Amino acid sequence: MGTPARTGAPVTLTIDGFEITVPEGTSVMRAAAEAGLQIPKLCASDNLEAYGSCRLCVVEIEGRRGTPASCTTPVAEGMAVRTQTPRVKKIRKGVMELYISDHPLDCLTCAANGDCELQDMAGAVGLRDMRYEPGQNHYDPFGIGTLAQGDARARSTGDLGNPDYIPKDDSNPYFTYDPSKCIVCSRCVRACEEVQGTFALTIEGRGFDSRVSAGAALDDFMSSDCVSCGACVQACPTATLQEKSVTELGTPDRSVITTCAYCGVGCSFKAE
Ligand code: FES
Repeated sequence: MGTPARTGAPVTLTIDGFEITVPEGTSVMRAAAEAGLQIPKLCASDNLEAYGSCRLCVVEIEGRRGTPASCTTPVAEGMAVRTQTPRVKKIRKGVMELYISDHPLDCLTCAANGDCELQDMAGAVGLRDMRYEPGQNHYDPFGIGTLAQGDARARSTGDLGNPDYIPKDDSNPYFTYDPSKCIVCSRCVRACEEVQGTFALTIEGRGFDSRVSAGAALDDFMSSDCVSCGACVQACPTATLQEKSVTELGTPDRSVITTCAYCGVGCSFKAE
């Protein structure tokens, strides 16, 4: 996996019938974007290496079997790509159903409401309803935490809580980490490595048990190698990593990308 390297020689292909010429090594997703065609995506981000994990960006390519991820597939001369076939639309919808089935349905009270890529992508693929029961992965539908944490309420209501629930990490003074909203796209992990070069984050566990961790299993952000640069927060597509100022004051009116030697992530302003 990884972003194909753009090496320069021009390559001409068609995407949804549009003829496009881009440098060799360009990904199909980037070629489509340069032609003004947006392919749904979650784990890809303009300033990070492609990862190919969410499978939302799948396309069909004439003469090839399967549905490759457009973010990790380099263009080729004469390639004919289709981004909106019934087959890829069905796959994307299925992928989004799985993501949403394991995500808290609290959009109306979520700090990222209106600024959430998961929400945007659910709309982009036309998801209206879900065939699956809401999941229980790191998720606390009753708001009572683990049985131990919610013991009093559990005794009075009979709700047993979710033993897999991991409480929100509030240890960092600038941002919170809420595992229940994480889609494990690894954008935060890659931003920590590629933007900041800190390697403070990792993904531990497999399948439903996988989650982003700040170092050793029980480390919180403040006791990890995190330097509070904010690259992970900028990269997060949901409210998993959320600036405390946004929770308290609302979404910033303006953001700038800086060349500041300290972090290079950029600063946000909330106008009075
Ligand atoms: Fe391509 Fe996630 S955006 S696999």
